[in-house]
Amino acid sequence: MKNRMKISTLAATALLATTTSVSAGEVEVLHWWTSGGEAASVNYLKDKLSDAGVSWTDFAVAGGGGENAMTVLKSRAISGNPPTAAQIKGPSIQEWGDLGFLADIDGVAQANDWDNLLPSVVSDVMKHNGKYVAAPVNVHRVNWMWSNPEVFRYAGATIPTTWDDFMVQAKKLQSAGFIALAHGGQAWQDATLFEAVVLGVGGADYYNSAFVNPVDLDVLNSDTTVEVFETFGKLRQFVDANSPGRDWNVATSMVIEGKAGMQIMGDWAKGEFKVAGKNVGTDFICTAAPGTSGAHTFNIDSFAFFKQSDAASSEAQNIMAAEILGTDFQTVFNLNKGSIPARLGVSRAEFDSCAHDSMDAFVAASASGSLVPSFAHGMAVSSAVSGAIYDSVTNFFNSDQSAQEGADQLVASVSSAL
Ligand code: GAL
Repeated sequence: MKNRMKISTLAATALLATTTSVSAGEVEVLHWWTSGGEAASVNYLKDKLSDAGVSWTDFAVAGGGGENAMTVLKSRAISGNPPTAAQIKGPSIQEWGDLGFLADIDGVAQANDWDNLLPSVVSDVMKHNGKYVAAPVNVHRVNWMWSNPEVFRYAGATIPTTWDDFMVQAKKLQSAGFIALAHGGQAWQDATLFEAVVLGVGGADYYNSAFVNPVDLDVLNSDTTVEVFETFGKLRQFVDANSPGRDWNVATSMVIEGKAGMQIMGDWAKGEFKVAGKNVGTDFICTAAPGTSGAHTFNIDSFAFFKQSDAASSEAQNIMAAEILGTDFQTVFNLNKGSIPARLGVSRAEFDSCAHDSMDAFVAASASGSLVPSFAHGMAVSSAVSGAIYDSVTNFFNSDQSAQEGADQLVASVSSAL
């Protein structure tokens, strides 16, 4: 009975085909949310859909940042067998839309007034040719640093807010026997760390000109980029020898367990602290990555919908899209995920101080021009340009290239990908 009532409420608000049946179809959903916090989040979506009569076929492809998932998605789509929905974000939504793969969910979006529920920085990305083809689940802030206060106390160090001070405090942590910077040597994690340095050293104007479409090659090919690589290169010494290939959530657990002092990572890391039963303030501290307080590097997760040949699957997509924008979903999902709601009008009461900081920084940064899209997480440039950035950044971080060589290589590879 409960299910039926939910279904009919949805049908009224979301222009769904009328149905009183408990089974409203099924969705196969591709995602890469396999860590503890991520799995708790995606399970909630699964439960919400189940309550609405939609069954879930899980298509999880492990690998933080989603590179593996995107490779698998391409092969499924090319062979004519795409899933019902896939975690696709940023400019990639346009790339999939241009190829003709995406279904339009504009009926649900219009019936539920998405244009007024979503900030335009979010809704613009969800549309292809003016019609909604994707539904946003959250806004992650990427420029965060996660610290273990006990480790800092033990080492007599203080949490740094500038890159210069970072080098000083990280040395203190090392001298006291800790790993200063928990890091996983994977290209996307190297790019996430690099992105924080770009913003902290270069500032938002430089970031927007050099790393956001349309890329200004003159700005990229400047002394500021060399300075960025100088700071980035200094971080090599603070990462332990076992970092190559390490998953991001394993790096987070090093901070949780007090083996390492800090991790620079988006707020999906908070989901891991939560799953481990840790509390902000006492067990872990969230501060903006050095030099970036007040700025907000955003990463919006969304599900894009693939064209279907049968009406039941399209209806299941509509139900999924409507559920995703609900206040209940946006609250619980984001409490688990570490992010903040993508839609407006959700109470902030249940969220913690890190989430409040992210919400406040999002608004303030938007007014001051320091709200920037994450290039490490597919928000800022085409997949070709982001691939070029990944390659040169990871190559630099794992070699002894000089800052000038790193900058030259980055400029060369980005210009050949434009
Ligand atoms: C990001 C994604 C986040 C988080 C992270 C690590 O690209 O947007 O939701 O899951 O990867 O897997």
